[in-house]
Amino acid sequence: ELGDSVTIIVLGASGDLAKKKTYPALFGLFRNGFLPKNTHIVGYARTGMSHQDYLERITQYIKPGDNNEHKSKIEEFKKITSYVSGLYDKDEAWQGLDNAVKKSENDRKIPSGNKHRIFYMALPPSIFIPVAKGVKKNVYGHEGVNRLIVEKPFGMDSESSNHLAHELGQLFKEDEIYRIDHYLGKEMVKNVMNMRFANIFFSNVWDRNYIDNVQITFKEPFGTEGRGGYFDDFGIIRDVMQNHLLQVLSLIAMERPISTDAEAIRDEKVKVLKCISPISLDDALLGQYVAANGKPGYLEDETLKNKESRTPTFAALACHINNERWEGVPFILKAGKALNEAKVEVRIQFRHVPGNLYGGSARNELVMRIQPKEAVYMKFNNKQPGLSYQTIQTDLDLSYHKRYTELSIPDAYESLILDVLRNDHSNFVRDDELEAAWKIFTPLLHKIDGKNKKSAEGKDSGDDLKITTYAYGSRGPAELDEFVKSHGYDRTNAH
Ligand code: BG6
Repeated sequence: ELGDSVTIIVLGASGDLAKKKTYPALFGLFRNGFLPKNTHIVGYARTGMSHQDYLERITQYIKPGDNNEHKSKIEEFKKITSYVSGLYDKDEAWQGLDNAVKKSENDRKIPSGNKHRIFYMALPPSIFIPVAKGVKKNVYGHEGVNRLIVEKPFGMDSESSNHLAHELGQLFKEDEIYRIDHYLGKEMVKNVMNMRFANIFFSNVWDRNYIDNVQITFKEPFGTEGRGGYFDDFGIIRDVMQNHLLQVLSLIAMERPISTDAEAIRDEKVKVLKCISPISLDDALLGQYVAANGKPGYLEDETLKNKESRTPTFAALACHINNERWEGVPFILKAGKALNEAKVEVRIQFRHVPGNLYGGSARNELVMRIQPKEAVYMKFNNKQPGLSYQTIQTDLDLSYHKRYTELSIPDAYESLILDVLRNDHSNFVRDDELEAAWKIFTPLLHKIDGKNKKSAEGKDSGDDLKITTYAYGSRGPAELDEFVKSHGYDRTNAH
């Protein structure tokens, strides 16, 4: 445990992630009294900046707040942060950072043994390894615990991810590493286990005998505008499916862990991931958005280098879990940019009630809406109130904004950084989990990459990998309804 002192070192402090997520989350924790009493935050990046510029940058995304207390908290927060600029590949530069951290530790009179250091890598993946090396060699603390926070992308496929894991593993112990998947910090994702394992009425229906299919959907109403350079190398599958959606899947599908310990939970997640076969082309529907409704198509994105790119911005993938609980139940992952709405949800569709007493009543569905507006609701059959005896479907609805009116839901990053301070790995990705996750997607990704390469060289291989198109602002490719239907989803419930 950290006790009451820590130094948090934000590497890449001048970048977007730090500005938009890391610092606002650190401020949220500070404001609510969750940072250890004796905390100092040191930002590090290449950019030379005055202290004032740095402070402006890191508070730019902190909501101004409407009362004086909030404003004075921002001023107090500024006092616990400082900035050091330096290169990422020079020992002398890293030593400059180490000196600054040591000075701060000494100024704060932290006793030896309590000089804990948390390194937050808010950096592009191309420099993960050199930075981790520089940090380990020059800034790693020897008078307290060290923790390293990293965030995806963790490689591009099995091979590159294993390489990264191996290199990091040479430098930091697995229990010092916290791999962020920010979906695991979201309120409704954290709720999946409570909901499944604390409600007896779910225990016996959570399997192939009662569940027909599961859909996990991610929809964003904006394209890659301005991020095309990054996105084109990754595509929607690497961007949100191999990580965020697969994490949700593993929580929905895993067996009950023996306890709520981080390792017990992660053991079960790894087990279920290992039961999923690599996704085949037959189980994939891929698409790329084109201009519509006055919005540009993917290929018109100015930041895109390959103007013939075949990178999917939409995918629907059916995963098959080959175990006793789930055989025959497709888990359909759907994700897309430039769609008609912003929504992330899990939709568990149950089987038809056998016996047909009420003539084809619609199937039950349990929906967990992750965002926006967290909710759990159940599509439920009920007698139509009044003189009719007809069965109609209605919602049993737990909408958080109506039920928990006093509650403010923390940002995912706030929740995850607090877990790091508390040394709780439950909501972080373990090395073997990452390896199992990549195995599911790598063969399909290699096919897509091959196709993309050929198109960049001006030849289309004409193989069976089809990338269809969809209009910006639409529900996705026209083939989508047929795709989910072919995997069992019954749309008579249409929502
Ligand atoms: C990121 C992806 O990991 O998740 C982005 O790189 C995506 O492309 C984002 O927009 C979605 O996160 P959230 O929290 O906005 O749903």
